[in-house]
Amino acid sequence: MHLSNDFITARAHTNIALIKYWGKKNDDLIIPNNNSLSLTLNEFYTETSVKFDNSLSKDLVLLDDHDISDSNQIINFLDIIRTKANINASAYVKSYNHVPTSAGLASSASGFAALAAAGSKAAGLQLSLTEMSKLARRGSGSATRSIFGGFSEWIKGNTDNDSYGKSIQDPVAMDINMIAIILDKKPKKISSRIGMKRSVETSPYYNAWTKQTEIDLIKAKEAIKSNNFKALGQVAESNSMRMHALTMSADPSFMYFNQDSIEVINTVKNLRENGIDCYFTMDAGPNVKIICQSADIKIIKNKLANKFDENQMVVSKPGRGIEFI
Ligand code: PMV
Repeated sequence: MHLSNDFITARAHTNIALIKYWGKKNDDLIIPNNNSLSLTLNEFYTETSVKFDNSLSKDLVLLDDHDISDSNQIINFLDIIRTKANINASAYVKSYNHVPTSAGLASSASGFAALAAAGSKAAGLQLSLTEMSKLARRGSGSATRSIFGGFSEWIKGNTDNDSYGKSIQDPVAMDINMIAIILDKKPKKISSRIGMKRSVETSPYYNAWTKQTEIDLIKAKEAIKSNNFKALGQVAESNSMRMHALTMSADPSFMYFNQDSIEVINTVKNLRENGIDCYFTMDAGPNVKIICQSADIKIIKNKLANKFDENQMVVSKPGRGIEFI
């Protein structure tokens, strides 16, 4: 393989699932139990530069200028790239997150998507988007979808080779925005990895989740096809709550909501009762993402302004797929 002499830099945007991935059938290969569907966001992204260098004695990894070279998750991921490319060289990785890390804003999605793209190219591999998506999946499940812009789907598959993301629609036709309400920037207490494992193993509702998610996914894809914002918002909100029901019904139970999350959820419901078409979705952290149309952004932010600062409410439009820069 021909190693690049220069750093290769890639930018990946994060994505927020409208139909969630929650639970794996293979923990090592990260093969999920259900398909998922997401919107890639413009405002949150990771830029990662990689160079493989035979003169390095070990991998050197900097995230936002902090040395995280002892991260097994990243070293294991770099090993997967080395095996694919049949090289031994250690890597120099520099990554910058434009996402509050580990706060349920899917920094792992943009992080591993950017590392898959920059790392594979730096190692001399020329991967298709599908292959890149399979590689990103080995780092973090949600990264599978961040290779693509707009709406994308992760086809669950059964093996390393048939579990990958694909584009559903990019650019996005409907007027859709997400307002990320940043309630907590601290890393989450129960990682998605541990949380989903516990749900699979102990929630009596887990089988119902996989069945229902198939129905939710069909509804979401129909809504995208017919440009139906309301239908997409409704199914995204119910699917998110169904995922959180798996955390509350696990043993021991756990919750990603905090008091502020519930306040935002109630505000969204109240706005809707007053004719503002908006919905919410939440991931493995307390932050709430409000799904809305452009004309309603101002009124929604105003409604929350007495409780949250302007910089806690980040508005994002759909974002692009992976880019080399
Ligand atoms: O890819 P992970 O391990 O960060 O898990 C992501 C899980 C959710 O964000 C809650 C759902 C999803 O599909 O992104």
